[in-house]
Amino acid sequence: MSEINMMKLEKLINGRPLFTVAHLVANGGDRIGIVGRNGAGKSTLAHLLTGTDHDYHGQLIVDGVVTYVAQIAASNEQSGGQAMMARVRQALSVRPEILILDEPSSNLDEPHQAWLIKQLQHYHGLLLLISHDRHLLNAVTTQTWAVRHGEFKAYPGNYAAYRTQLDQQITSQQAAYVRQNRHQHDLKLAMQARHEKAQRLRKGNRRMTPSERSNSKSLREATAAKLDRSAKKLVERGEREAKVTKPFTTTGFKLVATDFPAFTGKTVVTATNFTLRRQQQVLLKQATFQIKPGERVALVGPNGSGKTTLLTAILAHQAGLNLAPAAKLGVFKQDMTALDGQLTVWQTVRAASQLPDQTVRNVMGALGLPARFYQQSVASLSGGELVKLQLVAILVGNYNVLMLDEPTNYLDVDALDALADYLQHYPGTVIFVSHDTTFRTQVATRQLTFDQQRLIDPARVTVKAAAPSDLPLLQFKYDQMMLDPSADSAVLQALRAQIAAAKG
Ligand SMILES: Nc1ncnc2c1ncn2[C@@H]1O[C@H](COP(=O)(O)OP(=O)(O)OP(=O)(O)O)[C@@H](O)[C@H]1O
Ligand SMILES: [Mg+2]
Repeated sequence: MSEINMMKLEKLINGRPLFTVAHLVANGGDRIGIVGRNGAGKSTLAHLLTGTDHDYHGQLIVDGVVTYVAQIAASNEQSGGQAMMARVRQALSVRPEILILDEPSSNLDEPHQAWLIKQLQHYHGLLLLISHDRHLLNAVTTQTWAVRHGEFKAYPGNYAAYRTQLDQQITSQQAAYVRQNRHQHDLKLAMQARHEKAQRLRKGNRRMTPSERSNSKSLREATAAKLDRSAKKLVERGEREAKVTKPFTTTGFKLVATDFPAFTGKTVVTATNFTLRRQQQVLLKQATFQIKPGERVALVGPNGSGKTTLLTAILAHQAGLNLAPAAKLGVFKQDMTALDGQLTVWQTVRAASQLPDQTVRNVMGALGLPARFYQQSVASLSGGELVKLQLVAILVGNYNVLMLDEPTNYLDVDALDALADYLQHYPGTVIFVSHDTTFRTQVATRQLTFDQQRLIDPARVTVKAAAPSDLPLLQFKYDQMMLDPSADSAVLQALRAQIAAAKG
């Protein structure tokens, strides 16, 4: 028998539908991935299933004890990864009948992700796994509940199988949309033809005698009116038939160097024989490296190797680490408590930026916080929406160097793409940590890897050829020089030539 059964379920928020479920069942032993965009209602569904939220319409039967591990953020005492591991371990130890995990793999490094996958593969109860982590979902789940356009639907197979089905659906929707447009066009032509014919009828034939004209007038008028009516019907039919909507597409938005405080200087960070410690432990020994303006540096290494500690050391101007005076640092670390839940989204962002309203709105829109969020309270945002808000506040702030510690947790695919795109075109310097390999390779121009108290720097081993990624850096230098009235015009000219060359 089924342990979870939902029928004609509807969840409203402030009187507006968040999602509906026509019919979904889950049985013991099922391993179900729950996927969907940020704010689609995944955590809300979990709260209905655990019984913490009773506010819904329709039928919801949960037959069994539910253990729930909620979506969380890192705290000061423990890294997010460590905290989540402890909670998952605790949850599994009670051998729950029904286990719901909400984003369990955020902040986990690869060995810990592997551990989590193994634990979940060995779990025999009913598992509902809410996640944006494709790797985890594919390794663990055998069914998928996806929420799209406000509706939860079940798909057989793991995330990859679901994506294939969805892509086919989108392709045929696209084709149907094109067909529909063509059909609408044909209908419009037919409608015009009928109107024109009606017009001609009303005018009558030039060769008609006056008496013929007046005798046939009422008949001609009646026929013309009929034609007009049928043309009108055609239009109505066209409108009725237009059921297919255009598949969803997103647009990016980019800021330019003039939106930021200018950076002058040759290096942003200079480390000379620098030793990094966490309490008694030595994490880096005699490290020497430089980070140049416009670089996007990924710090890589297992949990606990010192990535965050290095970021903190740079922030603290530790001995042996020099931070350029012109650097204005914007810091993202996943600490949801840094936000004031009482404020609205717009108040929060507005307070963080000096850029014009419209620029701020554009960045918010690109990241997935459109106008409907402006007046919402920060406290009511979903996990992913909170991350987006924190990111926006930093991206539009008055900074020219960004330090991002795991900015990708909880973000849906569209937001991930938007963020990667944004950073690829960001004219300042970025130093970041992300366990998401795809994101890292998309964004980084350089990776520094922690390895046995050393920082492996590929830039010092191989000389990179002028890659396409040089372009933003050159453009950045150029824009900065343009702002500088004392800039050497010969240098400017040389830069222009280099930019032209890089553009190919
Ligand atoms: N009081 C409220 N007013 C307006 N919107 C609200 C309110 N409370 C919740 N919401 C919205 O309900 C939506 C559902 O949130 P939920 O936490 O279920 O999303 P989610 O699918 O878990 O997202 P994520 O992937 O970001 O964790 C969010 O868009 C949130 O902003
Ligand atoms: Mg959630």
